[in-house]
Amino acid sequence: MASTENIIEQTQKFVENELEGDGSGHDWWHIHRVRNLACTLAETEGADLTVTELAALLHDIADWKFHNGDDSAGPKKAGDWLKTLGADTDTIAHVCEIISTISYKGAGVATPMQTLEGKVVQDADRLDAIGAVGIARTFAYGGNKDRLIYHPEQAPVLHHSFEEYKKNDGHTINHFYEKLLLLKDRMNTAAGRKMAEERHRFMELYLDQFFREWNGNA
Ligand code: NI
Repeated sequence: MASTENIIEQTQKFVENELEGDGSGHDWWHIHRVRNLACTLAETEGADLTVTELAALLHDIADWKFHNGDDSAGPKKAGDWLKTLGADTDTIAHVCEIISTISYKGAGVATPMQTLEGKVVQDADRLDAIGAVGIARTFAYGGNKDRLIYHPEQAPVLHHSFEEYKKNDGHTINHFYEKLLLLKDRMNTAAGRKMAEERHRFMELYLDQFFREWNGNA
């Protein structure tokens, strides 16, 4: 059986290879940042580092957004990969459970995480969705999906089911109101919440300037 270090190293290479060339904001560097954030939060919170690191590395390996809405593709692909490395069954089950529950599913849909490791990885993934990096990723994603930057006559929609949320194809500014500005109050850990506050303030400042420019007032 491979050592833990070896499993993590091989998983990193596998993910780098799989996500190479992604232009949707879900590229390797997103994974790299989430992994670092998750490890920092795991140390503060006392979460298991191996499970945290593996779940962070594999959390976007087959995201539903790029698999016709299929949210079982990610955990399956991650589980198959870890099995080929001979990872222990408890670790595999825990990592797959995190990947299957981590995603945002709409403003009106709760997404509780079952374990401390899940809470830490979800916080790290959400931190990378907000702030300066989050803004860059949001527009990259919108461009990748051929979406408008903004349309003044299309108001945001607060989705009440994952199915509704999946079908959403509105302009990118709406995404701030439908998801990004709601994340600060949904953080699981105290350390994550503190980091989210600064990133949240930056997005508010950004949107304020955006609308002043849009309206010819700046
Ligand atoms: Ni992610």
